[in-house]
Amino acid sequence: MEPKESQHFYFGAATAAHQVEGNNIHSDWWKFEQEVQVKKNFLSGKATNHYELFDHDFALAEKLGHDAHRFSIEWAKIEPEEGKFQQDVLDHYREVFKSLKKHGLKPFTTLWHFSLPEWFAKKGGFEKRDNIFYYVRYCKKIAEVFKDEMEYIITLNEPMVYLYYAYLAGKWPPQKKSFVSFVKVLSNLMRAHREVYKNLKQVNPDFKIGVAKNNPAFSPDRRGNIFDWFLVHLLKYLWNHLFLDGISKCQDFIGLNYYFHRNMRFDIKMIDQFFIHPCNSCDVTDMGWEVYPRGVAGLLRDLWKRYHKPLIITENGVADHKDRLRGDYIESVLEHIFNVKKEGVDVFGYLHWSLTDNFEWADGYDPRFGLIEIHYGNFVRTVRPSAYKYEKLIKSYRKTLTDKS
Ligand code: BGC
Repeated sequence: MEPKESQHFYFGAATAAHQVEGNNIHSDWWKFEQEVQVKKNFLSGKATNHYELFDHDFALAEKLGHDAHRFSIEWAKIEPEEGKFQQDVLDHYREVFKSLKKHGLKPFTTLWHFSLPEWFAKKGGFEKRDNIFYYVRYCKKIAEVFKDEMEYIITLNEPMVYLYYAYLAGKWPPQKKSFVSFVKVLSNLMRAHREVYKNLKQVNPDFKIGVAKNNPAFSPDRRGNIFDWFLVHLLKYLWNHLFLDGISKCQDFIGLNYYFHRNMRFDIKMIDQFFIHPCNSCDVTDMGWEVYPRGVAGLLRDLWKRYHKPLIITENGVADHKDRLRGDYIESVLEHIFNVKKEGVDVFGYLHWSLTDNFEWADGYDPRFGLIEIHYGNFVRTVRPSAYKYEKLIKSYRKTLTDKS
C-alpha cells in the first residue's frame, strides 16, 4: 500500500450534547431518566453545565494543544416541538462554532448522538420509515444555518450500539427487546443516513459526511480453533461491517469509536454471553472493560482495506477515576495509529473520549472518562495529569509530522 500523508492530522477530544450540556428536557432520555433512572439517581440534570461553560472548556482544550473538537447538536433542543425550530438555540450553537474557531478547534459536528426529541420518540422514532422525513428535515435545517461553519459532519453516532441497547437489550429508551424492531430500525437508520447524505451535499457539496462507528477488536480465544474463528468472522461482519456496507456509497470518511476487545470462544454454555470469553488476567478500566490499545491497529487496517475511505478516531478512551491508566493508554493507542499510518492507511485524526467527565447514560456520573475532571457540586474543572501527557504527545507527533513535510 502506498503511504498517504496528504492530510492534516487532527488531535482533540469529543463530547456529546446530552452528556455535557444539561437541561435536555424535551428529549426521550430526560423522560427515561425521570421514569426509570430516578431510583438510582442517574439523572443528567445540568450535566457538566457545558451549555454555559463551553467557551471555558474550549479554552482549556486549546491550552492542552488540541486543534479539533467533536461535539453534538441536540435535536431535542433545536426542535422541542414538531416543526418548531428554536432560534435562540440555533444562536447558541452559532456561538459554539464561533468559540471553537476562536480557540483554533476544527469542529467535527455530530447531528445525532443517542437522544431524540420526545415527540419524535412518541411517533415511533426510527422504527417507522415515514419518520425519517423528520430527521432529514432537522439535518437540512442545521446544514442550511451552519453551511459555512461545518465541514466534517457525523450523521449518526454508533448506530449498532444504539440498536443493541434500545431495541435488543431493553436498557435504553424505548427499552424494547424485539428482533423485528431491531431489524426495522437498522434498515431505517441506514436509509436515514443515505438521505441526509444526499440532501446535505445539495446544501454544500464540500461537506465531508460520515458516521461514527463503534467497532470492537474481535479475536479467537483459541487461535487453532475454527469455530472460534468462525465467530470472529461472523461478529466482524454483523457488528463491524453490516452497517457500513449499507451506506458505503454515501460516506466521505469513517469515524471509528474504539473501546472493546472481544475474545470469542465457541462454547454452547456461553451462548447468553454471545460467546465472549472474559480475560481474567487483563488490566481493566473502571467499567470493567479490558485495556487493549493494540486492537485499534487491526480495526484501522480492516476498515481501510474494505472501504478505502479516510479514517479518523472519533472516540477512544477509558473510564479511570484515578487517572492511573489514561496517559499510557493514549500513548500506546497513538503509537499503533501512527504505525498503521506509516503502512499507508489514511488516518487523519484522533479525538479522545472525552474532553471532560460527563453523564454516562445508564451508568450515571460514576464513570470518569474525562481528560478534565468535573467537580459536580460547583462545576469546577481540574485538568488531569493524563491530559498533560496527551499534550506532550501531541507536540512531539506534530513535530515529527512537520519535519517530514
Ligand atoms: C458513546 C459515548 C459514551 C462512550 C463511553 C460511546 O459508546 O458514543 O456516548 O459515553 O462510548 O461509554
